[in-house]
Amino acid sequence: MNYERLQRQLSALLDTRDWLTNAAQTCAFIKQELADLNWVGFYIQRQPYTLILGPFQGLPACNPIPFSRGVCGAAARSRRTQRVADVQAFDDHIACDIASRSELVVPLVVADTLWGVLDIDSPRIGRFSDQDQTGVEALCRVFIKQSTFGHCD
Ligand code: SME
Repeated sequence: MNYERLQRQLSALLDTRDWLTNAAQTCAFIKQELADLNWVGFYIQRQPYTLILGPFQGLPACNPIPFSRGVCGAAARSRRTQRVADVQAFDDHIACDIASRSELVVPLVVADTLWGVLDIDSPRIGRFSDQDQTGVEALCRVFIKQSTFGHCD
């Protein structure tokens, strides 16, 4: 996958600074462009140490998710991307859509605060490579750089 092209396209797509609009566009764009995904969305820390469901593409999902639980919670706690090749082998995985077999969760840190996470699920075991991780992290940086946070929330 050519993530440099995707970065340029996402950058052009995000033509407001409104984080809500940009989050909606970003998850729709990723779902459209990357193959074999069944769920893409944002969880946002809108209460302390709690991830609240934000804009997403896919089936209705679990909400809320405390920092203490799931792959999303692990990404929020550690502030490190979680790449899980087989979610059924990850003890603490929260199954929202039983079709999900692998998962990539990128923490989104704004002004030294864990703002939220971007969660991507695939029905294919081992869907996400090292290159996918690096590429999606770069797309997240585009989203953060082109958005203004701290209002309309
Ligand atoms: N599987 C996630 C929960 C969110 S859904 O995949 C949309 C987790 O374990 O945190």
